[in-house]
Amino acid sequence: MRDDIVILGVFVADTSYRADRAPRMGETIMGNSFALGPGGKGSNQAVAAAMAGGRVHFITRLGRDPFADMALATWDRAGVIPAITQHDDGYTGAAYIFVEEASGDNAIIVCPGVARSISPADIDARADLIGKAAVFMTQLEQPLDAAMRALEIARAGGATTILNPAPAAALPEGMLALCDYATPNESEAEGLTGIAVRTVADATRAAEALIAAGVGSAIITLGENGALFHDGRAAVHVPAFDAGPVAETTGAGDAFNGGFAAALQRGAAPIDAVRFGCATAAISVTRPGTAPSMPARSEVEALLAG
Ligand code: RIB
Ligand code: NA
Repeated sequence: MRDDIVILGVFVADTSYRADRAPRMGETIMGNSFALGPGGKGSNQAVAAAMAGGRVHFITRLGRDPFADMALATWDRAGVIPAITQHDDGYTGAAYIFVEEASGDNAIIVCPGVARSISPADIDARADLIGKAAVFMTQLEQPLDAAMRALEIARAGGATTILNPAPAAALPEGMLALCDYATPNESEAEGLTGIAVRTVADATRAAEALIAAGVGSAIITLGENGALFHDGRAAVHVPAFDAGPVAETTGAGDAFNGGFAAALQRGAAPIDAVRFGCATAAISVTRPGTAPSMPARSEVEALLAG
């Protein structure tokens, strides 16, 4: 059996500010607290999948700066195998995360830095790794043409392909047809299908639209309502797990995707992999930060066992 999970994406340093409200233009307000930690959707997913027991390779570009050192230390701790290049002509990215104190809601600006220049040629240089993957997964923080090339190589090599279409973007023609699984959240699903997702019934229709567009199976993540899984024949709603009081929801989608990918690679039935992903996300939201909040496989299995 093929063992490896290969993830393409972006690392950024998350700079997280909690305040009672967002500042208006031209205004300075006092915040309540600040935290710096490892983030970026692809890197968070790689950490989640490795913590869940997967053998994970992460493809990206870094600068040569303190945030790059943070990335390397994060992957080392989680057991992620870097498949990266480091560059002097740019910086390792950062994300501004504003968290509204009362609601816990967030607003984010991501600057990918040198990872913005990940190119199809970078992907071709990793074609062997991608072609031999059991599971290949990517998101949309790096350029779309690189994601497209990687999905083509993964599909041709026989990998199971997962696209987490985040942040929302207009996809190139043919991209969805390269995906065994697409995992948008509610707003990303609406962007892709035009169907506003507020209920499980809406999510089912959005999933059907994604399948009609060429996706093998669609998973719409629904935040506190769990996830909707559609395999092209039937839809199943998986309610969210309760793992305790919520500390921070940023990165919950990444936790889901990493856990889902790891469970699929181990040969779990897709619906059980969705449950594993939901349980992974449920634990991650009880802890502050994104990558540092990803649970170990044993913790997820304990929550699933009830
Ligand atoms: O999905 C959460 C991530 O999105 C954060 O870690 C932040 O870096 C943004 O990229
Ligand atoms: Na968290």
